[in-house]
Amino acid sequence: MAKFVERVFSGVQPTGNLHLGNYLGAIAKFVELQKIHDCIYCVVDLHAITLPQKPDELRASIREVTAAFIACGIDPKKHIVFNQSQVGEHAELAWVFNCVARLGWLNRMTQFKEKAGKDRENASVGLYAYPCLMAADILAYRATHVPVGEDQKQHLELARDVAQKFNLDFAASIAAHGHGEAFFPLPEPLIQGQATRVMSLRDGSKKMSKSDPSDYSRINLSDDADTIAQKVRKAKTDPEALPSAIEGFKQRPEAENLAGIFAALNGETKEDVLKTFGGGNFSTFKSALVDLAVAKLGPIGAEMKRLKDDPAFIDGVLVEGAGRARAIATKNMAMVKDILGFVR
Ligand code: AMP
Ligand code: TRP
Repeated sequence: MAKFVERVFSGVQPTGNLHLGNYLGAIAKFVELQKIHDCIYCVVDLHAITLPQKPDELRASIREVTAAFIACGIDPKKHIVFNQSQVGEHAELAWVFNCVARLGWLNRMTQFKEKAGKDRENASVGLYAYPCLMAADILAYRATHVPVGEDQKQHLELARDVAQKFNLDFAASIAAHGHGEAFFPLPEPLIQGQATRVMSLRDGSKKMSKSDPSDYSRINLSDDADTIAQKVRKAKTDPEALPSAIEGFKQRPEAENLAGIFAALNGETKEDVLKTFGGGNFSTFKSALVDLAVAKLGPIGAEMKRLKDDPAFIDGVLVEGAGRARAIATKNMAMVKDILGFVR
């Protein structure tokens, strides 16, 4: 495999209610990675319209995710922050990948099955082709590392398959155009840490999600201290004490979830959490979790609120970021066109 410049890419959908799962599974890692990599963080509005969206809400959500990125500590001057629809190459490369990926690959995508539900005939074609667009997002920048939560693993594997098939199908042309043996890197998923799958606070078998009808199932990044405290106190637990060792979490998904959240927020492991709280009751643990969550998330919520009042600033960040993203994507797309045999 040829050597590629290391570059991080990830995306978050602007579909409302950014929550603790998005923060711990993705955005907190985005912040860490900026210390050692060149990073591109994208608000994926083209992905959002695979399901119906109200235009005014979509516009507000794009700004909200951008505000969350900045409030969490992403630096849009050093790195690139933009919304997907401003860079036409995403859609353009996605079309190419629609012709590279096989129907059989997309048929296996579990998220499509979940999101399409029973009435599959009525799902949008975009929802079905979504993983090809995601592959295009990453590969338009020939990004090498992709931080995501556990639920995106299968889509990342598909992106790797697309990259590999393109490299093989066009190997001769890729070599003839001076790119050696591979044009696209095989992007590596970064799914690490204590909270790659944060579960609902009401049901430890369900993922914390933007679309859960119960607001008590999740902690939103925009929640104030009182709301965070209420949600943690009401979070489902069981009647027993916290276990003293990890094995004690078997059949106790709610207990494990809260311990994982505490660990991730405090930069430690679940073992560490049990060293402090194992054998104790939930009310003591929950009080500590409230303090920790409020200390970590309170300032983020406050900064998001401040940024919300300045949409012109947010829009400026997106336009500027899109310009820098476009400069990279246009060059890569031109090379893709040459490799494919398009005249330009
Ligand atoms: P989405 O809101 O679906 O665009 O997700 C944005 C990012 O947050 C992706 O990297 C997801 O994998 C991650 N994510 C979403 N929900 C969770 C969760 N409950 N736990 C951990 N990561 C999550
Ligand atoms: N599909 C991702 C999600 O729903 C968002 C996404 C779109 C993404 N394009 C991406 C994530 C590229 C990583 C890389 O969470």
